[in-house]
Amino acid sequence: MCGIIGAVSHRNVVPVLLDSLGILEYRGYDSSGIAVINSEGVMDRERKVGKVNQLAHSLSNGSTISGTTGIGHTRWATHGEVSEANAHPLAFKEKIAVVCNGIIENHEELRAQHLREGCEYNSGTDTEVIVHEIHRFQESGLSLLEAVKGTVEKLTGSFAFAVLSITNPEKIIVAKNGSSLLIGFGENETFIASDTLALAKIAKRMISLEDGDIAEISDQSETVIFDRSGSIVQRPAESIPINAKNIELGTYAHYMQKEIFEQAAAVSSTLKDRVTSDSVVENEVLTGKATEILDRVEAVRILACGTSFYAGLIAKFWFEALGIPCETEIASEFRYRKPVIANNTLLIAISQSGETADTLAALEYASELGCRYTLAICNSPASKITRMVDLVLHTHAGPEISVASTKAFSTQLVSLLLLMILLARRKGLTAQEESEVVHEIRALPSRIDAALQMDRKIHSLAKQFVDKEHTLMLGRGTHYPIALEGALKLKEISYIHADAYPAGELKHGPLALIDANVPTVAVAPNNHLLTKLKNNIQEVKTRGGKLFVFSDAGDSIKSDELIEVIHVIQSGPYTSPIIHVIPLQLLAYHVAVMRGEDVDNPRNLAKSVTVE
Ligand code: M6R
Repeated sequence: MCGIIGAVSHRNVVPVLLDSLGILEYRGYDSSGIAVINSEGVMDRERKVGKVNQLAHSLSNGSTISGTTGIGHTRWATHGEVSEANAHPLAFKEKIAVVCNGIIENHEELRAQHLREGCEYNSGTDTEVIVHEIHRFQESGLSLLEAVKGTVEKLTGSFAFAVLSITNPEKIIVAKNGSSLLIGFGENETFIASDTLALAKIAKRMISLEDGDIAEISDQSETVIFDRSGSIVQRPAESIPINAKNIELGTYAHYMQKEIFEQAAAVSSTLKDRVTSDSVVENEVLTGKATEILDRVEAVRILACGTSFYAGLIAKFWFEALGIPCETEIASEFRYRKPVIANNTLLIAISQSGETADTLAALEYASELGCRYTLAICNSPASKITRMVDLVLHTHAGPEISVASTKAFSTQLVSLLLLMILLARRKGLTAQEESEVVHEIRALPSRIDAALQMDRKIHSLAKQFVDKEHTLMLGRGTHYPIALEGALKLKEISYIHADAYPAGELKHGPLALIDANVPTVAVAPNNHLLTKLKNNIQEVKTRGGKLFVFSDAGDSIKSDELIEVIHVIQSGPYTSPIIHVIPLQLLAYHVAVMRGEDVDNPRNLAKSVTVE
């Protein structure tokens, strides 16, 4: 989850490291730090608890560190509490400094051995074992590169790390096993980073390292990569797949706000070239062996976490309605069961980041269980998941920076709709039926824009939630996952406890929670379940509960002293969940802002969950 950056240049790299750490902050923001080798060959290191601007502030206030080679880190604490001592880079006597992302699983055993042999530890982190191992190998006469190779052989776990040493002041050595690590090439300078976003402003081309790779980073022409066997390898370089402009906040107050408002454009980009006026263009949606695989698919199994999981829950309704058996599961649960996967099942992993450890592990596990066809729906073009699957359906939402996922969700749903059509065609979906769904999908961007017009209304509604501690969210059918998503948004950024229930379940327990202090939100589109939902709304009202009902314009639910109806623009049956999530995203956003919370970087969370 942590963010890593490194630079070997001819200019002072401190500003670049700080700027990149700011971009990487969404990966973790408990503490941050940098280490550089200065012009005298001495290592300077600065670390601070808190967000990157604390570090930047401290560096602009008197500390004058500079150097042409350096590494930086922004931390999401796993081993060792949040403290300056545990902030990276971790160092051995300002001779060797290490930044690491991931977990060293055998750190306790290595630490115990080091302590027995007289090493002094300065932190409670698992990463510090790397520093001592490298030092011990160097003490035995090995070069820095050989010392890193020897160290990697002793480590278990999933990690990526970068090493700076005064013995090699113009080099950074990196090692990757499990966690992502990229090398970026700029104008006469080379960078390393844990993800593409950090490279977008500074590099032109990049290489994704493979597991087992160790690389010696120096200036462009001299960078060398060794594979697991120690042989020098050439890894393909590619253009940076992100436009630096897309990561600027512009006139918005927060990235979450920007990303909510970008949803119409994100959906349009995801649809671009993939639909004609009345059909889906298969070879624009999926390339490679798509036709061969889709022809054989008889069932679908979806694996994902968090918001991506909720997109999968909605898709289950869609696939099943068209005769395609579908199960949707939380990736972290799937991987610890013995699931039975029928022959010719297409396994769909959904992940915005393409790096979520549980989703990747579940995907691997599914392959071990004999699942032959895999597809990823992913928003990060060069991410790990895209290299693990047979087919990739890219959501073109553009970089999503706020920890709370918004535009990735709507584009995941649109992508799932496209995929549904491709599979349903093979199960007898007629051209006329396909055309109806496509028309509905094509109308989506303008409907999203119309739904965003609710912003002022939701802003004023948010005032009724600001001082609440609990909220209940209700939905039915495809809109129950929307209630789940609304509750997740409210929890993660405003810290209000929100629980979502399928409305029919109310009387089986949650109704006991209802009182005047627990507002209930009902997602109430005008569909075949509306009559049932209206009964559930009455059940809450009868017990004195205040309700906020998001209903389609034109339906018959009326506001009264306990019910406040908020009209949402009417949409077709497939796209309605995408429209109904918008007011809930806006609600969570405005409540969090009014409560003074750090909207984009909520406490205890990080954007890419690269650890179990
Ligand atoms: O990158 P992924 O889609 O795999 O991430 C999955 C979840 O971690 C993510 O959706 C998380 O729940 C979000 N913070 C929700 O807003």
